Amino acid sequence: MSDDVGTWQNVPLAPPDSIFKLTAAYKADTFARKINVGVGAYRDDDNKPWVLPVVKKATEILLNDPSLDHEYLPITGLPEFTSAAAKLILGASSPAIAEGRVTSVQTISGTGANHLGALFLSRFYQWNGEAIIGLSSPTWANHHAIFKNVGIKPIDYPYYDPRTIGLDFEGFLSALRNAVPRSVFLLHACAHNPTGVDPTEKQWETIADVFLEKGHYAFFDCAYQGFASGDLDRDAVAVRYFVQRKVPLLVCQSFAKNAGLYGERVGALHVVAASPDEAARVKSQLSVLQRSEISNPPSHGARIVSLILNNPDLFEEWKRDIKTMAHRIINMRHELHGLLTQEFKTPGNWDHIISQIGMFSFTGLNVVQSTALVEKARIYLTSNGRISMAGLNSKNIRYFAESLDKAVRGTL
Ligand code: LMR
Repeated sequence: MSDDVGTWQNVPLAPPDSIFKLTAAYKADTFARKINVGVGAYRDDDNKPWVLPVVKKATEILLNDPSLDHEYLPITGLPEFTSAAAKLILGASSPAIAEGRVTSVQTISGTGANHLGALFLSRFYQWNGEAIIGLSSPTWANHHAIFKNVGIKPIDYPYYDPRTIGLDFEGFLSALRNAVPRSVFLLHACAHNPTGVDPTEKQWETIADVFLEKGHYAFFDCAYQGFASGDLDRDAVAVRYFVQRKVPLLVCQSFAKNAGLYGERVGALHVVAASPDEAARVKSQLSVLQRSEISNPPSHGARIVSLILNNPDLFEEWKRDIKTMAHRIINMRHELHGLLTQEFKTPGNWDHIISQIGMFSFTGLNVVQSTALVEKARIYLTSNGRISMAGLNSKNIRYFAESLDKAVRGTL
């Protein structure tokens, strides 16, 4: 055998990740006015990652705890973390929790929750035909990969209407109505990624009606609780409403954004079952799946979040920290909107910048304009025109608005 024929020579070269390649390119760029609005990660007004003051406090408490050890956590995670996390998303007085119908497992952040949920469905969901999940068009790109990995076929459902830069509610509803009964649909609980376009409460009611009529299963992904409105409870209304209406569902939860714990990988998967017996069966199988994949979830981040969720003073402080982040983002939306509409008089309507919510704005820029911003202005954004509002601050927003204006006019 010749030396240059390797074992892996037939492995196709994969493209780099569409979001994290932007962070790498941004870091490598020496241009002083470069801006990273690619990845959805919070930055303060000095463009620095923000360690939440409450997280600093909780870490301090942990470091001074003489009883702390480095033993394995249980397979399904730190119990005081998972139970508090369930209350956070489902509500402290959730009847489903009181009735013992909720099963919660600690996961490797939201991605791990999506994966574990998808894996569980691929094994145990009673598919009506082929294993398919409906994903909003567009959605977080990783959703496609996660479901394909476990043999579930992603199918797009209409969601975003480029003509209105808003929700295609009729298209969405007809996809739900036309799907075979007991189909599975992924729903973004709040602060839709990438569009920042969420259904209204009234629209969620109609969506729940159709789920019940058709017996569909709701696979909620909740990566931004607190980021949409600055209020943890308000951002959980869709999930809580679906639980109240007894739509069968699970929820994937991440603490990466709302606790600023990106690297710690803290998340949970909550399955709301029909009865305590069903919940126990689900938990037993989730444990088996988790064991073969990661054995036991990591302890550090879960301990921090558990301290915050279970201590009333820390919890109040966390809510203030979340408001700080959410309001900074909302301020950036207003400032950008003002610059585009009043100062630069950029062609087009830019009201969606202030009507969209959460970490992202879907600017409506096309691939050519987005690419020009990356290549000519060194403003790093995904080619679908999504920008992370947290990448903007009082020092760079003028350069951003000016460059966007030029991109729209084709003069960059
Ligand atoms: C994003 O969409 O930018 C974030 O959720 C980070 C990620 O994992 O892609």
